[in-house]
Amino acid sequence: MSLSVAENELITHVGPGTPGGAMMRRYWHPIGFASEFKGRPIRRRLLGEDLVLFRDDQGKLGLLTLRCPHRGTSLEFGHIEDGGLRCCYHGWLFNTEGNILQMPGEPPESTYKDRIKQKSYKLEELGGILFAYLGPEPAPLLPRWDVLVRQDGVRSMAARVMHCNFLQAVENSVDQHHFKWLHRTPKTRFWSEEKLTSDAFEFGIKATFTRTVSVGSFMTKSFFLFPNMNKVGYHLNEDHPAAFAATHEGYEALRWRVPVDDTNTMHFTLYFAPIVDGKVSAKVPKDQQAEGLGDSVLGKYRWDEETGWIARGDQDRCAQESQGAIFDRSGEHLGVSDEGVILLRHMFKESIQAVQNGADPVGVVRDAGKNKMITIVPGEIQVP
Ligand code: FES
Ligand SMILES: [Fe+2]
Repeated sequence: MSLSVAENELITHVGPGTPGGAMMRRYWHPIGFASEFKGRPIRRRLLGEDLVLFRDDQGKLGLLTLRCPHRGTSLEFGHIEDGGLRCCYHGWLFNTEGNILQMPGEPPESTYKDRIKQKSYKLEELGGILFAYLGPEPAPLLPRWDVLVRQDGVRSMAARVMHCNFLQAVENSVDQHHFKWLHRTPKTRFWSEEKLTSDAFEFGIKATFTRTVSVGSFMTKSFFLFPNMNKVGYHLNEDHPAAFAATHEGYEALRWRVPVDDTNTMHFTLYFAPIVDGKVSAKVPKDQQAEGLGDSVLGKYRWDEETGWIARGDQDRCAQESQGAIFDRSGEHLGVSDEGVILLRHMFKESIQAVQNGADPVGVVRDAGKNKMITIVPGEIQVP
């Protein structure tokens, strides 16, 4: 059931002109936080394309290819003024659509500026996150996931880069069995009667992991949202025998694994704690929007002396990066517990095929009536 080298390439390569890249371009992807704008443009790389993000002096969001069409200087060093972004080198002025408003140095009657256009993409803000769309028109709607739009709770966010192909991180979303081993506590080894399920649903895959401990059987339910998100919510207290070390004690997390290019991935996390009976139900981790997109060092993972194990925040990154820059799946040996991973890869291949046939891939949202708020409820329950 391992993949051929060609199949592996198909689902891991996302640059311009690749079939996987064409499919991934049919979705909105987080690219930064609105609070990162401090009067200057921001440089980012998404799906193998170098880009500049800016907010013009009217507050309009712009997303353009990075290099100035004049002589290639990076527009990240430009100045926001006169209704656009002005290149630092010779002052060409671009608006958010990529039109050139001014071309200093050319004769006033010249139409040269009207014959050149910088490539521009759509950029929208929702819940403090900036989302980019690099695909063809008509663009689908930016999905309004509940935790992005709910007003009855507290949100916090963080983002950092990890240094491997995005699909390794994405596969982790449906690989429930790793909870027990990678996120181990002294008690997880003794879980018994484990049962895993993975089922396709409208937006991706619903996955469950049931296990039995001394005080009963517990089921964790989480959702993989195609092509690169997952939504989790854990409720067991960390010293509970059925809890694992990623247990979040009452808040939900929505995560995106966004390809920078084929060997780097932006990992965005949004935490949401609802207000229940007038009280915020859980303490969310510290908000890190102001710090923008953080980085990590490939091969360096913190060690927790107290638990004698890889430190909690680095466990998943350690497992995923050490699979290799782009994991060669032609040499793996899948087992029964990899059912979710197999289903996920199948969905990737189907969605790439759908785009090649001119159809929408899995989970694209175009119905505004259904997009007021998309509610997805993960959790942990005791089962009989
Ligand atoms: S390189 Fe940008 S204006 Fe000359
Ligand atoms: Fe994990």
